[in-house]
Amino acid sequence: MIGKICGTGSCVPGHILDNDDLSQMVDTSDAWIRERTGVARRHIIEEETTVSMAAEAARRALEDGNVRAEEVDLLIVCTFTSEVLLPCAACEVQKELGAVNAACFDLNAACTGFLFAYNTAQAYIAAGLCRTVLLIGSESLSNMVDWKDRGTCILFGDGAGAAVLRAEPGELPSPVMHSDGESGGALTLKSRHRKGWTEGLAHPEEFIRMDGREVFRFAVKKVPEVIHELLDGTETELSEIDHFVLHQANRRIVESVAKRLDVDIERFPMNLEEYGNTSSASIPILLDEMNRDGRLKPGQTIILAGFGAGLSWGAAFLRW
Ligand code: UT7
Repeated sequence: MIGKICGTGSCVPGHILDNDDLSQMVDTSDAWIRERTGVARRHIIEEETTVSMAAEAARRALEDGNVRAEEVDLLIVCTFTSEVLLPCAACEVQKELGAVNAACFDLNAACTGFLFAYNTAQAYIAAGLCRTVLLIGSESLSNMVDWKDRGTCILFGDGAGAAVLRAEPGELPSPVMHSDGESGGALTLKSRHRKGWTEGLAHPEEFIRMDGREVFRFAVKKVPEVIHELLDGTETELSEIDHFVLHQANRRIVESVAKRLDVDIERFPMNLEEYGNTSSASIPILLDEMNRDGRLKPGQTIILAGFGAGLSWGAAFLRW
């Protein structure tokens, strides 16, 4: 059995912060941000929360797939930015939706979260453990960003995307997943928990810290590698893939991956101009846009590829 996506949804905050707004906050410019990242604006939470965006994206995905909340038997929220740790965000979303028959848990693999959750869902379905899975990536990165650090704050945005998978007969080639904790220092967010009796809460590292160049180098090397690894041992050629849906981290990363694979950039959809990098939400938001505007056609073959903190990276097949 495989999990086939039958519905998608997304939810982004209404409030928009554009590059000119940011240039009032840090020493940067619209031209620099557009050229180095491809981002023009990002949506930032006001009243919304990680859970409220997740629940709304999920509602839209269930509606799109014509699936009742009670039918969901596994609900995974990918996030590292939830305002609530206990209960987990997935249980909070379950409560909002009335998905009373679902087992719920959160999955934190940072920007690779949705890809790892998609593979987890496929494994549960293949093992016969569940039939209907709701996957959600939801992030409130604006809560975790240092708005004084121009090396990171220009990149990220908030939002949520969701997909519903239904079990159906079929087979998919094995996905590929990797992690390298030794290199994890390149992208960190230290715990906001009290460090001890004396240190108190305030700590300069309680924001996302990133060695941008290091992460960039890692991404442009590992993503093409992992896509080749995914295809190795299958009958499928690069030329047969309709869309390469990559984590939307930086336009130049996507362009570099396309070039290294020698694949036309047209087959790499992007939406980071509008949303920035929304971490685990970026792949499902993009899938939802493509689903709703008719770019995804039955029978198409898609490769999903994620990468990010951990460091972690991976790729998987999706048949539409
Ligand atoms: O999703 C999770 C994974 N994360 C990523 O994939 C992020 C990957 N990395 C990146 O996207 C890029 O490294 C950044 C967008 C974060 C930075 O772009 P870059 O082209 O790697 O810039 P850089 O760090 O190499 O800096 C180049 C120059 C530096 O000045 P000098 O030393 O050459 O004089 C920086 O100080 O640009 C300067 N700079 C800026 N200038 C204007 C850095 N940030 C800014 C800024 N505005 N916001």
